[in-house]
Amino acid sequence: MKFFIDTANLDDIKEAQDLGVLDGVTTNPSLMAKEGISGQQNIIAHYNAICAIVDGDVSAEVIGTNYQEIINEGLELAKLDDKIVVKVPMIKDGIKAIKYFSKEGIKTNCTLVFSAGQALSAAKAGATYVSPFLGRLDDISTDGLGLIEEIRLIYDNYGYTTQILAASIRHAMHMVNCAKIGADVTTSPLSAITALIKHPLTDSGLAQFLSDHTKAAGRP
Ligand code: G3P
Repeated sequence: MKFFIDTANLDDIKEAQDLGVLDGVTTNPSLMAKEGISGQQNIIAHYNAICAIVDGDVSAEVIGTNYQEIINEGLELAKLDDKIVVKVPMIKDGIKAIKYFSKEGIKTNCTLVFSAGQALSAAKAGATYVSPFLGRLDDISTDGLGLIEEIRLIYDNYGYTTQILAASIRHAMHMVNCAKIGADVTTSPLSAITALIKHPLTDSGLAQFLSDHTKAAGRP
């Protein structure tokens, strides 16, 4: 399973990249705004900065909501770097645009997906990635992981190559459960990625080993 980081924060992206387990980055307009990035030139410069840090795919979201706007923005974004994946919302014009980008060989990430029917439509249109938001479903007492399972089943039934990019991940257990189900990718905050590594028994076990080593070294 690939690990993407869901942020526009360059320090977090660098830290995850340095860890050696990062496969890509996803951003969205809210995450860009959180970093104070606004204005077309600054947004483009920020995507270039992200692409310079990571080796893998970088999702850059369009703002337009009609077909022509999505196409124009997507073509501009795709020109920036081979790593750019055009992130398109799950709306009618978005599906049409994904079909167009797919024919042109431009990678896409269909975002704001909350149902199996939406995921099926994204795969039919040829999306490279589909982003079901599991945390936001959990937030409204709906089974987010259950949706990932449904999409996995449907894609496997027909051999769709669209990759399931489990998004809106909140913690390490979401990532572990996505791996059990067979999600292709998770995108999460840095905190979820680093939490995977931590276990209190590892910490106490290591402290004991080092203490025993020191005691033994002090013996005659
Ligand atoms: O980038 C899309 C998605 O991961 C957003 O997550 O935490 O805002 O629900 P969240």
